[in-house]
Amino acid sequence: MDRARTAQPPGVLSMHILPADHHDRDWDAIIVPREVKERLLSQALLVLEHGRKLSMLSGLPHGLIVLAGPPGTGKTTMARGLAQVAALALARKGATALVEINPHAFPSDMLGESQRNVTRLLTETVPEIAAQRPFVVVLIDEVESFAVRRSTASFEANPVDVHRATDAVLLGIDEIAKNLPQVLFVTTTNFIEAVDEAFLSRADLVMRFALPDRETIERILAHALGELAVQWPALLPLAQDGARLSGLAALCEGWDGRRIRKLVLAALAQRLDVARDPSHLSWDDLFSAARKQGGVEWAGGAAPTAHELFPDVPKELKHDHDHDHGQHHHPHLHRHTQTHQREEK
Ligand SMILES: Nc1ncnc2c1ncn2[C@@H]1O[C@H](COP(=O)(O)OP(=O)(O)OP(=O)(O)O)[C@@H](O)[C@H]1O
Ligand SMILES: [Mg+2]
Repeated sequence: MDRARTAQPPGVLSMHILPADHHDRDWDAIIVPREVKERLLSQALLVLEHGRKLSMLSGLPHGLIVLAGPPGTGKTTMARGLAQVAALALARKGATALVEINPHAFPSDMLGESQRNVTRLLTETVPEIAAQRPFVVVLIDEVESFAVRRSTASFEANPVDVHRATDAVLLGIDEIAKNLPQVLFVTTTNFIEAVDEAFLSRADLVMRFALPDRETIERILAHALGELAVQWPALLPLAQDGARLSGLAALCEGWDGRRIRKLVLAALAQRLDVARDPSHLSWDDLFSAARKQGGVEWAGGAAPTAHELFPDVPKELKHDHDHDHGQHHHPHLHRHTQTHQREEK
């Protein structure tokens, strides 16, 4: 277990101590040109390894990376992967803490509260973590709600409060750049126009993510099918059929990476037979799911009844008296609903 056992400080979603083997996957999962990964990793290592010396420069680094781009283009996954790979590079010098921040924990209706929350994070929480681990990567998703652009802040929120909260972010980042140069902020946004200009100007690197091109789509599909083949080896030939992969990729032009990965899941759920035994997945299923854009055609004859579908489930496997239609919640009576609670990724 690499997850800190104690309760997380306010605004902190999770903390992981890296490197840890099962964190390798993220970096490998994101398919982008080699230069993109090299630039990111170099930027991270420059700050984490040499931040102390660089902080003596008049133009010191702020230890801030902004990943911007449309939803589903791999920004968050890449940020997590970056933390792991940087931690691998630094492992001989000490561990790296990856701290994920919940940006929605900061805005508040209470006057002055947002500012206090931000200040607490940047002057107490992060420095405390940095005192315990040699290297710290702080991941802030949806940074547009953390460093709200002051010039266009919505008037629904109290503009004075928004101003002060963003001021507190800038102040906090400046202090950390000077005093804790081994802290790196990696932030993501799909709405860069809403991120404060002075925050962006502090970024050492603003990297814009684009939708995958045709060749990248093909490689994402191959990667997704390759992962399935680890679980169902009969599917390996699918992952290796370049000609068909390229045909399938042509149907996915304009899609983001998340949607491309979901296509493979949609293909598994085209037919009951495949859903029950994924090793039956065929090219037809994949092409048909792509043509339907992952959805369903509202077509076909009468569907079989529940009993026609599953006629022979034995009586002893049925929970005829184990249910609760009441409004109130009795956790112990909710056994049959637990299978509905699946975590969304
Ligand atoms: N270039 C890519 N190569 C491979 N997989 C990708 C790529 N881009 C996105 N994906 C996949 O899409 C899914 C979503 O990625 P992720 O959550 O990192 O996107 P995001 O840019 O942070 O999206 P959002 O802006 O909605 O938060 C992940 O499963 C990821 O593996
Ligand atoms: Mg994200």
